[in-house]
Amino acid sequence: MTTYQLAPSILSADFSRLGEEMAAVMDAGVKVIHVDVMDGHFVPNITIGPVVLSAISEQVHAAGGVLDVHLMIEDPDRYIDAFAAAGADWINVHVEACTHLNMTIARIKSAGCKAGVALNPATPLVALQEVTADIDFALVMSVNPGFSGQDFIPAVVPKIERARHLLPEHVGLQVDGGIGPDTVAAPLEAGANLFVAGSAVFGADDPPQAARELMAALAAKA
Ligand code: DX5
Ligand code: ZN
Repeated sequence: MTTYQLAPSILSADFSRLGEEMAAVMDAGVKVIHVDVMDGHFVPNITIGPVVLSAISEQVHAAGGVLDVHLMIEDPDRYIDAFAAAGADWINVHVEACTHLNMTIARIKSAGCKAGVALNPATPLVALQEVTADIDFALVMSVNPGFSGQDFIPAVVPKIERARHLLPEHVGLQVDGGIGPDTVAAPLEAGANLFVAGSAVFGADDPPQAARELMAALAAKA
């Protein structure tokens, strides 16, 4: 979880050609596909569920990739097993949506997935403090979740830096929201190693080229 990885979010892809769009960025070297699950309650938007995940799982795994499932839903415990069965490799839950976070993390792991915990921009880092030994990665949101195409919030950069110091070395640190060629450098310098990008990859005129450029920025740091 501590290698540098670009995780394009399919939320910005053309859903009528999803397989082709994923194949193009994976051919360019992408190994992590980010899947944004929204329920219309935790966030205003409604997006993808286990049925779609299951439809893309074989393709992504056959290409050597992993499915990074970001649950922006209330009561995520109810759906962990379904997403794991549909092919999730990493499952990321929001601390704001979990009443019994230890149990949720344990459930993700017993379903055979890597466990991540996400924090909204206004959620203090201390919310992670008691679970740092239990997680595989943390996600510091750099937009308020709900939609792709929002502006990166620069105030999260010092939070990323503090998160890197708080987390054990083997725990990955992901950033999600508004990441693109102009905003990747600051969170990279601050210690993030997993970079989600939606509109900057699938919203670009040439998604594989956009992915290659972002991966080159990450490789320069690695
Ligand atoms: C935000 C989602 C993000 C989003 C990223 O709610 O969690 O993953 O799709 O999109 P961009 O990179 O366009 O901000
Ligand atoms: Zn996301």
